[in-house]
Amino acid sequence: ADEGMWIPMLIGKNYDQMKSQGFKLTPQDLYDINKASLKDAIVSFGGFCTGELVSKNGLLFTNHHCGYDAIATESTPENNILDNGFYAKNYSEERPIKGLFVNFLVKIEDVTDKILTQTNQLTGTEKEAKITEIGDKLAAEATKGTHYNAFVRDFFKGNQYFLFVMEKFTDIRLVGTPPQSIGKFGGDTDNWVWPRQTGDFSIFRVYAGKDNKPAAYAKDNKPYSPKKYLPVSVKGVENNDFAMVYGFPGRTDRFLTSYGVSLAIDSVSPEIVKLRDIRLKAWKKEMDKDVAFRLKISSQYASVANYWKYFIGQSEQLKALKIEDKKRAEEQEFNQWVGSKPEYAGLMQKYNELYTNYAPYAKHRVFITEGFYASKWVANILKLQNSIEKLTKEVKGTDAYNNLQKTALETIESYKETYNATADKAILTGMLTAFYEDIPKNQHPDFYNDILKKYKAKTPQETFEKYANALWKESVLIDPDKLIAFINNPNQKKFNEDIAYQYAKNLVIPEYISKNLGTVLKDFENQKQELDHLYFKALLKKNEGKLMYPDANSTMRITYGNVQNYAPKDGVLYEATTTIDGVMEKYIPNDSEFDLPANFLAAYKARNFGSYGSNGTLVVNFISNNDITGGNSGSPVINGNGELIGLAFDGNWEAMSGDIAFDKKFKRSINVDIRYVLWCIDVLGGAKNIIDELEIRK
Ligand code: ARG
Repeated sequence: ADEGMWIPMLIGKNYDQMKSQGFKLTPQDLYDINKASLKDAIVSFGGFCTGELVSKNGLLFTNHHCGYDAIATESTPENNILDNGFYAKNYSEERPIKGLFVNFLVKIEDVTDKILTQTNQLTGTEKEAKITEIGDKLAAEATKGTHYNAFVRDFFKGNQYFLFVMEKFTDIRLVGTPPQSIGKFGGDTDNWVWPRQTGDFSIFRVYAGKDNKPAAYAKDNKPYSPKKYLPVSVKGVENNDFAMVYGFPGRTDRFLTSYGVSLAIDSVSPEIVKLRDIRLKAWKKEMDKDVAFRLKISSQYASVANYWKYFIGQSEQLKALKIEDKKRAEEQEFNQWVGSKPEYAGLMQKYNELYTNYAPYAKHRVFITEGFYASKWVANILKLQNSIEKLTKEVKGTDAYNNLQKTALETIESYKETYNATADKAILTGMLTAFYEDIPKNQHPDFYNDILKKYKAKTPQETFEKYANALWKESVLIDPDKLIAFINNPNQKKFNEDIAYQYAKNLVIPEYISKNLGTVLKDFENQKQELDHLYFKALLKKNEGKLMYPDANSTMRITYGNVQNYAPKDGVLYEATTTIDGVMEKYIPNDSEFDLPANFLAAYKARNFGSYGSNGTLVVNFISNNDITGGNSGSPVINGNGELIGLAFDGNWEAMSGDIAFDKKFKRSINVDIRYVLWCIDVLGGAKNIIDELEIRK
């Protein structure tokens, strides 16, 4: 049914429809807590993406953009695997990635009654605290005597609760990646766009202790032997074939009200785009000067750019698809249904008032999260604040002191990696100037007005440039080397008075910005939460007996539908697949987004498609009408027989408003065809060892 991110435990309710659309397995094949099922082959990758097991030796596929940070971190100008690609020829060449982990789902349990019966009568923070308390208790009971971890998540804005028991592995090693000219082919220009030709995959391996259980990294850990792994089908896909995506979608807001949509279009999204643009331009300038810096900052740059373009597209499509009008019509219908039911009376009116009061402050909030706090040095100071407070209270030379100091120095070590004073100064000047342009004067904090006075110059921009120079000159908390010296000789008074700490505190922490702003932001969050809870309670009642799926919340979901072409506009039909011939059409030698490696060009010229071609060409990407969002990246696209046919990696431009409203006509998942993945590994990478591990079905 295309729309819908369904909870695996409850997938039986969708089964008849899945079957009629071409699904050949049973609900128990998808989710079973007593024997191996497909869920056991799928993991939450690093907490932000999805991955799938594809061999009995713990081999894992995910997207290139999911492995990007690991790949970039492993790259140096001398051994540049980001630009050149890399395939391990054996286990010993695989590269352990510090901090990376995957989570398997052990089981789901509906704990709605257990939570609601004990908290129904409570409100506000008291209710929150009780829910957390019960949730922690349930999680502890569910994992007692095991090495599992568990958590309770709320669904439908606190109207349902499910418990998730997970198994976490932390020894994860990089096995292979194509060069980024293939893995990120098309770059930001093609990002979020179909037709597409990107080889967006990378390969990892899960390692376990001798007993096949999770273990901290150790050289002689063994490849994990999973309960289940996915066979790979190279039979190929066709328009209308059944396709489902099984993974960990992050966040959607499908029931956002018309008031929320209007705020997003008018102020929040354009401001996010403007502030991200400031960061991107400042970084790009430095990246073009210095390869080492480019490699270090690439991953951050890509993730900021990804959602920079996302919000441009979201605004555009919210308008084009008239989502605000559609929401308003739904709300009118809702009001009719409410009629004289007293418990929901005036709900929409209350939303209206809430947003009206909040609207003047919405941009200010964007400046905190996407502006001031988004500078690494600011976040770093606020992160260190706590350690410094503790450190100055301990006696030098004690274990406690040494441990605190070590942690602080490690924090600075990783901060130092991407530090760039030139870019940071440009970003600071840009943010403060944008604040001047976009935030009403009556919201300017005293701290901000003092800067304007003290560093007064011809224009605000020049004022802030002057101020930036003073910051870098006077502060000991920005420059990593000065910061290290400070940590080796910490002083609370000096910290409190530091010009950069003053900046961080007075522009980022709402209570310090102004008493009023702190209250406004908190009230908005609290009141919205209460209204949302009530709205969903009503919607569940209104839709009783109908199938309803909850918004994405980083828990495991199934979405099913078909490989499906679409018409982006009148008279135009986009096919469901793209081919290697399309890659060549876009090829631009030496371009940062559309270049190709020499061995690709040679194989193309010889039309060497190995055993992966069809109809004289090689399929590269395909689209399906599955309901995915961020977090689904890397998810397996699975055919009716439970075989892997591709990896989901993107959404399409015409449906960028999809997280707020699903549009059946336009919304597509963009996937890399598994045959292209295998061709890159096999023909270009020469990594037969990896191909041999797979269970390939012809
Ligand atoms: N838009 C994709 C997503 O959010 C990420 C694509 C990464 N590629 C890129 N060129 N930035 O899932």
